[in-house]
Amino acid sequence: MYPALQKELDTYEKRTPKSREAHARAMERVPIGVGSNYRYYPPYPLFVRDGKGGRIRDLDGNEYVDHNLCYGALFAGHCHPAVMRAVEERLRAGTLFGMPHGLELELADEICARFPAEMARFGNSGSEATMHSLRLARAVTGRGKVIKMEGGYHGGHDAISVSVKPKEGQFGDPDRPTPVVSSLGVLKGTADATLVAPFNNLKAVERLFEENPSEVAALIVEPIMMNIAFCMPDEGYLQGLRQLTKKHGAMFIMDEVKTGGKLAYGGACEYFDVKPDIVCLGKSIGGGFSIAAFAASRAVMDVIASQKMFHAGTYNTNPVVMAASLATFREVLTRDAFRYVSGLNEKLVRGYQGIVQRVGLIAYADGAGANGALMLYPHRVRNYRDWYHVDEDLWTHYWFAMANRGILAQPYWWDEQWTISVQHTEADIEEHLQVFAEVAPALAAAQEERMAARRLGTHAS
Ligand SMILES: Cc1ncc(COP(=O)(O)O)c(C=O)c1O
Repeated sequence: MYPALQKELDTYEKRTPKSREAHARAMERVPIGVGSNYRYYPPYPLFVRDGKGGRIRDLDGNEYVDHNLCYGALFAGHCHPAVMRAVEERLRAGTLFGMPHGLELELADEICARFPAEMARFGNSGSEATMHSLRLARAVTGRGKVIKMEGGYHGGHDAISVSVKPKEGQFGDPDRPTPVVSSLGVLKGTADATLVAPFNNLKAVERLFEENPSEVAALIVEPIMMNIAFCMPDEGYLQGLRQLTKKHGAMFIMDEVKTGGKLAYGGACEYFDVKPDIVCLGKSIGGGFSIAAFAASRAVMDVIASQKMFHAGTYNTNPVVMAASLATFREVLTRDAFRYVSGLNEKLVRGYQGIVQRVGLIAYADGAGANGALMLYPHRVRNYRDWYHVDEDLWTHYWFAMANRGILAQPYWWDEQWTISVQHTEADIEEHLQVFAEVAPALAAAQEERMAARRLGTHAS
C-alpha cells in the first residue's frame, strides 16, 4: 500500500469510528457484517444513518453526495415526495393481501407503453426477473441452454452464476471463454447449460449457436455492461444479437435491471432502438421499494397464461411497492427527468474528462443516461477481459479520497458506476467535480510512480 493511499485510509478510519464499531458488532451475527456480499469492503463499510434527496449521512453524521444510490436503484433519489406520498396513502389501506387488487394492470400498462411488450409479470428483485425470464425462454422454446456474457451479472440465482468474475487462470480462449461457476454451492451441472461469450463479439456468439444447434433457449445480455463499471455496446452489436437469436430460434433477453429506469424513458430498448423478446426490469422502477418485472409479447407470455409455466410469489404485486412504482413511473421517470439527469451526467463526464487530461491521469470517463464512471484504463473497455486489469490500489485511492471529502462517487468496487438522481442538482455536480479536481493530481502522481516502479521492476506498493 503506497503512502498517499494509506493516508486516505487513515483519514477514513478517523472520520468514521461509529461505522467501524457497528461493523465489528454486526460481524458477530451476520456473515461479513453485511446483508449482501457486495456491500462489504475493507477496512469496513460505511453504515448509513439516513438519506434525503441526493445525500446521505453516515452514523458519525458525515454527509455525502450520494452517487451510490443503492447500486443504481434510486433514480428517484432518497424519499422522493411523490413516492412517499403514494406509499403513505397506500399504507393506510392495507399492506399485503396475496390477492389481486388492480394495481398490477395499471403497472403493466405503464411498462407496456414504454417497452416493446404486451404483458408483464412482477417479482421483488432483479434476480427473480432474470430467473423467471430464463424459465420463460426455456418453456417457450423447449430448449435447455442459455448464452450469457463473460462478466455479465444477472442476479444471485444458480442458472446464471457462471463466469461473473472469473480469474485470469480460469479464462480460457478469449473468443470462447470457459464457463466458470462463480460460487461454492452452485452445481457444476449449471455451468454445463450456460454458454459464455465475450461482450462485443458477434462472431463468438454465432459460433456458440452453430456448435449447439437447436439447443439454445435464450441469450441474456446487459445492454450496457454495468457490472464491469461502464462498457458500451459497439454500434450495431445489440441489433446483431437480435438477428442472431432470431436466426437460431432463441429468445433475446435484455436485462434492463440497471438500464430500465435510468438510461432513457423507454430504457435501452428505446435508447438503442432494439426489440428483445423479453425485458427484465428492477431497481430504479421501484423508486426505493423492491419491485421487479419481466415483460414480453402476448405470444411469449402464453406459456404462463395457459398455466404451462409456473411463476408465483407471496410478495408479488405487494400493493405498497406497486403504489411506489406507479408513482415512480408517472411522476419520476418522465421524459423531462431523463433530459435533466442526462444533462447533469454529461456535465459530470465532460468535467471528469477535462480534469483527467489536465492532470495527465491515464484514464477516461464514460457515461449515458444517469450512469457513468471514471475508467482507470489506457483504452476504452470493450469486454470483461479489458476491464479485468485495473490498478486496484489506485481505484481504492480514488474512492476513499472522494468519500473523505464528502462525495460517494459510486458504490465501492471498481465494477460499479455512479448514478445521478432526479434530486441531484447542478451544485451537487459542481461539488463532485471540485472534489475530483482536488483529488486527481495525487492520483496522477501515484499512477506515474507506480508505472515507473513497474518499469524498473521494483515494488510499487
Ligand atoms: C444487470 C443486473 N441484473 C440483475 C440484477 C439482480 O438484481 P437484484 O439485486 O435486485 O436481485 C442486478 C443487480 O445488480 C444487475 O445489475
